[in-house]
Amino acid sequence: MSGEGKKVIFSGVQPSGKMTLGNYLGALKSWTELQHDFDCYFSMVNMHAITVPQDPEVLRRQTIELLAQFIACGIDPDLNTIFIQSHVPQHAELNWVLSTMTYMGELSRMTQYKDKSKKSEANLNAGLFTYPVLMASDILLYKADVVPVGDDQKQHMELARDLAERFNNRFSDTFVVPEGYYPKGTSRVMSLQEPLKKMSKSDSNENGYILLAESADSTAKKIKKAVTDSVGVVNYSDEQPGLRNLINIYSALTDQTVEQIVDMYEGKGYGAFKKEMAEAVVESLRPMREQYNYLLDNRDYLESIYVKGAQKAEKRAKETLDAVYDKIGFVKRNY
Ligand code: AMP
Ligand code: TRP
Repeated sequence: MSGEGKKVIFSGVQPSGKMTLGNYLGALKSWTELQHDFDCYFSMVNMHAITVPQDPEVLRRQTIELLAQFIACGIDPDLNTIFIQSHVPQHAELNWVLSTMTYMGELSRMTQYKDKSKKSEANLNAGLFTYPVLMASDILLYKADVVPVGDDQKQHMELARDLAERFNNRFSDTFVVPEGYYPKGTSRVMSLQEPLKKMSKSDSNENGYILLAESADSTAKKIKKAVTDSVGVVNYSDEQPGLRNLINIYSALTDQTVEQIVDMYEGKGYGAFKKEMAEAVVESLRPMREQYNYLLDNRDYLESIYVKGAQKAEKRAKETLDAVYDKIGFVKRNY
C-alpha cells in the first residue's frame, strides 16, 4: 500500500508508434476509471521500445506524443505519477537482479517473443528475449497491486507474479504479488481487416487499425471498410468475429451493453449499423484528438509533468531497490 493508504497501480505503453483504439480500450480507458481509487504510476516505457530498432529522433518525439495522448485520454497529471521509464535508473538495476532469477525456459515460452522474433530472425537481440523481465521489474519496483493491461500481456503478468513469489521465498517478503486487470469485452480489440488478429499499430494494412489522433473522415472510412460476413444479421456470436469486434468497440465507447446494441439493430442491415457506429466512434474520439493537438503545442507543460513524475517515481523505486540490494547481500553504499 502507498503512503495515502490506497492500493498501487502500475502500467506502461511503449512509445513505438501512435496509440490505437486497441491501446485505448484495452488499457488507457481502464486507467481513467481506476485513477480515482488507486495510487497510479503510468510510464512511457522507452526502454522496452528499443528492443526493436527505433529511429532516435522519432523515438524522442513519440515519447512526448504518448504523454500528450495519456493526458488527452483523461489521465489526470495531478492525480497520477506519469514518467519516462529511462528517467528512473532503478528499472534497469532491478532488471539485472531479476534476470539472474529467471529461467531461460520461462522466457522461451513467451508468445510475444516467438511472434516478434519471427519478424526479425536475422538480428535477434537479447533484449527482446529478456523484455518480460524488465516488465516485471517495472511492476515490482512500485509494489503494484494491480496492473491494467490488454490480455496480450497475460503471460508477462504471470512471470511478474512468479518472480515476486520466487524472490520472496528465496529471501524474505519484499515484493507484492501483482494482479492483472483486463477490461471486459475489449481486453483484445481485433483488426478491422482480419478480425482474428489483434489490432496493432505495426500492422502493414492501415485499414486494420484506428489511431486516436486520426481524422474523423478517415476513422469513418475505416469502419465502413471493416470486414464483416455474409450472415447479414447484427448478432454477437463467435461465427461473426468481425461484427463481434465492432459491437465490442461500439459498446465500450458509448457505455451501452452488447444486448442493447444488438436490440437496436434488430431487422436492420450492416450498412445502418456501421454508419451509426462510425458516428459514435468519431464523436467519442473527437475531444481526445482536439486535446491532444492542443497539448502538443504546450511543450513546457508536458515537460513539467514528466519531470515531476520521475522525481516521485524514483523515490518509491529507490526504497524498493535498496531493500532488494540489502537482501541479496550487496554491500551498502554509505556515501
Ligand atoms: P503497447 O502498445 O504494445 O505498448 O501496448 C500498450 C497497452 O495496450 C498494453 O496494455 C496492451 O495490452 C494494450 N493493447 C495493445 N493492443 C491492444 C489491442 N488490440 N486490444 C487490447 N489491448 C491492447
Ligand atoms: N509490455 C507492455 C506492452 O507491450 C508494455 C509494458 C512495459 C507494461 N512494462 C509494463 C505494461 C508494465 C504494464 C506494466 O503492452
